[in-house]
Amino acid sequence: MNSFIAALLWLLVTSLAQLQLVSTSPIPTLSSRKELIAWSPTITYPNERTVLKAGYGTYMSWKTDDMPEESKNSTGYIMLGWINGTDTNEHLDWRHPVASNFKYTDGKVNFTLPENLEPRDDYIFVLMGDSGNASPTFTILQFNSTNSPSAGEA
Ligand SMILES: *[C@@H]1O[C@H](CO)[C@@H](O)[C@H](O)[C@H]1NC(C)=O
Ligand SMILES: *[C@@H]1O[C@H](CO)[C@@H](O)[C@H](O)[C@H]1NC(C)=O
Ligand SMILES: *[C@@H]1O[C@H](CO)[C@@H](O)[C@H](O)[C@H]1NC(C)=O
Ligand SMILES: *[C@@H]1O[C@H](CO)[C@@H](O)[C@H](O)[C@H]1NC(C)=O
Repeated sequence: MNSFIAALLWLLVTSLAQLQLVSTSPIPTLSSRKELIAWSPTITYPNERTVLKAGYGTYMSWKTDDMPEESKNSTGYIMLGWINGTDTNEHLDWRHPVASNFKYTDGKVNFTLPENLEPRDDYIFVLMGDSGNASPTFTILQFNSTNSPSAGEA
């Protein structure tokens, strides 16, 4: 699934959930959804040279200086996925966001990678909320309890 479609789906799910609480209308209007998805943040980390280790701490960061006013109160999620070659499937792990409930205005969020990831050189993080964007592909190495915990810089 590509990240634009993924962001739209996520938005639909979250706006439906909100609407059930605040309104009797079952479908969000097209214009309100368009307003919400106006921004695609520039990802500053990780990048294509990044090598991370499963089970250890890392972060994702993005530029906030071009953030529209409407996104300043928004909270986000980060999904881990991977892309095999030119296949557009991002293999996002929807049920287990690696980070959640941070603010877009933070520009950065720390989190720990799961230990049970298979080693690949085509992982991505997708930043998602009422806007969204995917990082470049990067590498995650197998979990190894004898690895140095300071791993993770590009
Ligand atoms: C953001 O939150 C603050 C405080 O909760 C509120 O005053 C403000 O109107 C909100 N801004 C937007 C764009 O929703
Ligand atoms: C990646 O794509 C190649 C070529 O289509 C395929 O042979 C390989 O099995 C794929 N790898 C995974 C892990 O899906
Ligand atoms: C994120 O990690 C960095 C480096 O370890 C640390 O300096 C910073 O305080 C952390 N930020 C948060 C919000 O925990
Ligand atoms: C784990 O790391 C140690 C030290 O770097 C290395 O000797 C060992 O081969 C690694 N084990 C695996 C399974 O990668």
